[in-house]
Amino acid sequence: MVSRNIQGVTFNQLDQEYGTPFYVYDSNVLTANYQRLKTNLPDFVDVFYALKVNPNVSLCSLLRSEGANAEVCSLTELEIALKAGFKPQNIIFLGPSKSDEELARALEVEVFALVIESVEEFYRVNDIAANIGKVANVAIRINPSFSTRSAPLKMGGRPTHFGIEEPRLFEIFPALARAEHINIMGIHVYNGSRILAAQGIYENTEYILSLYQRISDQFNHHFSMVDVGGGMGVPYFGAEKELDMVEFSQLMRPLFSSFKQRYPHTRILMESGRYIAATAGSFVCKINSIKQCYGEEFLVTDGGTHCHLSAVGIGAVVQRNFPTENLSSEQSLITKIYNVAGVLCNPEDLLARKVELPDSKVGDLIAVHKSGAYGPSASPGLFHSQGHPKEILIHQGLSHLIRKKDRPEDIISRQILVSTLFDQK
Ligand SMILES: Cc1ncc(COP(=O)(O)O)c(C=O)c1O
Repeated sequence: MVSRNIQGVTFNQLDQEYGTPFYVYDSNVLTANYQRLKTNLPDFVDVFYALKVNPNVSLCSLLRSEGANAEVCSLTELEIALKAGFKPQNIIFLGPSKSDEELARALEVEVFALVIESVEEFYRVNDIAANIGKVANVAIRINPSFSTRSAPLKMGGRPTHFGIEEPRLFEIFPALARAEHINIMGIHVYNGSRILAAQGIYENTEYILSLYQRISDQFNHHFSMVDVGGGMGVPYFGAEKELDMVEFSQLMRPLFSSFKQRYPHTRILMESGRYIAATAGSFVCKINSIKQCYGEEFLVTDGGTHCHLSAVGIGAVVQRNFPTENLSSEQSLITKIYNVAGVLCNPEDLLARKVELPDSKVGDLIAVHKSGAYGPSASPGLFHSQGHPKEILIHQGLSHLIRKKDRPEDIISRQILVSTLFDQK
């Protein structure tokens, strides 16, 4: 199991200083993950960190200082990226349904590429760009006629609301290329997530690079960027194995190098979120009560799935537990099978089901590891009006609060009381 301190700061110290529940991130792991990915790719491949997995501005800023670029999917993510210090030319903006406000802001700050996901959006961008007298740098997201076999979560190669289908793009490309206020600078494909087989990422990338070549050849179009997505995964469960980075590097380097030889002026982008952030974070909560119920035992904590929905395994038929640890108990020989519950009035509010843990007591700290990706950003924080938990970064052996817990006033202040409508009797 993971050590009970991060850079020498113990979980108990964190509990005493900040109180549970909280997310805690290890800056060493975050930067090592990014650097491992980056150094196993040729220098000329730019890695774009997907803010959706964890948009905390301090984490983004740390990754930016390491050389990462930013992939954003909302106005707020764009503003976070700018606040974290990413230069607009190192930001791309995508997402299947962007508002006019988002498109206009992206054009205003001149992000490197606006990734267009539909024909309607394409012409909307053309109009917005015309209104402000600009030419928009646009990459077209393609849903290819190819799906990544080894991706547990497939975004392309099947019916989804992402991008434009490959055959359709071939039909309409000449018309799109005539738009006056759009420069079709590149293509984007994001085909799947949680891939642990280097060969799967290679095949996916090979397909996208050849698609780039087919489109540019057929339409004699000059592109200057290609975004091949990524989907590099981390193992969470039993038999899953780490992505083999030696194999990854051996496969990807020659592939990118021969593409670069042919297209020396094309910027090559890969996107990554989970691989960079997942293992850098743990979610920590505390046992408030222990209950036996009809033969099962429940550790009822002050956390829950409103803080960490991913731990429930959305989309999975059977919940498989993230690595879960009792941080307080001595390495006891006595273990038990527990359900780790949270604060919500919902029987599904179980951070772990039937997990084997040392004999536990009220007050013990429970950690759900590998939780740095898709934690708060993918959780229904407003359920029970609980709000999001604190987030803490450990950097150079010191702890820093990088997100305050939502207080009642933070949540209530967003609501509007119209009681005058009801209290007039
Ligand atoms: C377009 C796009 N880019 C990047 C990501 C991040 O994926 P991952 O966390 O697997 O790296 C996703 C995840 O859904 C995505 O849809």
